[in-house]
Amino acid sequence: MRVLVTGANGMLGKDLIAVLEDGYEVIPLDLEGLDITDREATHYTIFSLRPDIVVNCAAYTNVDMAEDEKETAFRVNGLGVQNLAITCNELKIRLCHISTDYVFDGTSTRPYTPLDNTSAVNAYGETKLAGERYIQWLMHEFYIIRTSWLYGEHGNNFIRTMLRLSGERDEIKVVSDQKGSPTWTVTLSEGIRKVIESEVFGIHHITDRTAGGINWHEFATEIIRLSGASVKVIPISTDEYPTRAKRPSYSVLDTFHTEVSTGFSPPDWKTSLEKFIHTLKNQSDVSSS
Ligand SMILES: NC(=O)c1ccc[n+]([C@@H]2O[C@H](COP(=O)([O-])OP(=O)(O)OC[C@H]3O[C@@H](n4cnc5c(N)ncnc54)[C@H](OP(=O)(O)O)[C@@H]3O)[C@@H](O)[C@H]2O)c1
Repeated sequence: MRVLVTGANGMLGKDLIAVLEDGYEVIPLDLEGLDITDREATHYTIFSLRPDIVVNCAAYTNVDMAEDEKETAFRVNGLGVQNLAITCNELKIRLCHISTDYVFDGTSTRPYTPLDNTSAVNAYGETKLAGERYIQWLMHEFYIIRTSWLYGEHGNNFIRTMLRLSGERDEIKVVSDQKGSPTWTVTLSEGIRKVIESEVFGIHHITDRTAGGINWHEFATEIIRLSGASVKVIPISTDEYPTRAKRPSYSVLDTFHTEVSTGFSPPDWKTSLEKFIHTLKNQSDVSSS
């Protein structure tokens, strides 16, 4: 199978390529190789390369900046995805698109299933929802994979922020009233592989396993514990840490449907986190030796 990966230089893109290269012919395209907002280039590139499937890891991902740059975010997350869907549909190529827990408003009291109604509370979520809708309107054979709270080796993320702050401060204040599920890009990459092999089309949810979700304070506490730092982690409310974009207070995704239909079983969030921190520690040992 020939798999074209867009956004290949992103945090997810890089890990996904490593996971798919073991067994598939992977065509990685970064922003320079394919800007998905350019409809003609999208058509020409996919037409010339003729992959069996396109996995779209390209996105505008700055949640706070999207409030002020909604049009730019929409061009990538909405219209860029529309371009991919039009071309893939015309050429009968499957599309696997990555979406987010932020398509939900957070008012649920149980994990969101793929069948639940969406309603975004911020500009980023609205643009990601637009991308999902275009695919659903234009295509039959697609996978939309929603995930949440991503972290990985190849990008800036919450874990790197906590580790940096733990070296600079005596205490770190972290919100404790937003619940979700952290997800290692390696878990997601393995899940994507399983989903595209399954031929179970439609919407999937993939995250690391949390029993009903954890909050950012719990996540930070475990990061600091595993890192061995002695900094104090203080719980605060969202009101005490205002951000440009509103976040859903509860965005736990129910992975049950995907587990049953594809056989993918996500690891526990603590297992993934431990492996990730171990990887970072090994890297800093190598770079300091
Ligand atoms: N990060 C999270 O916490 C999170 C949570 C839930 C869902 N997701 C979703 O997961 C997916 C992967 O996220 P990520 O964290 O890996 O994001 P990322 O590191 O920001 O990667 C996105 C990549 O897309 C590229 N890109 C931006 N505009 C593009 C365009 N017009 N055409 C082609 N490429 C373009 C970016 O290139 P430049 O860097 O050069 O701009 C970047 O390499 C996204 O769909 C995101 O919405 C992420």
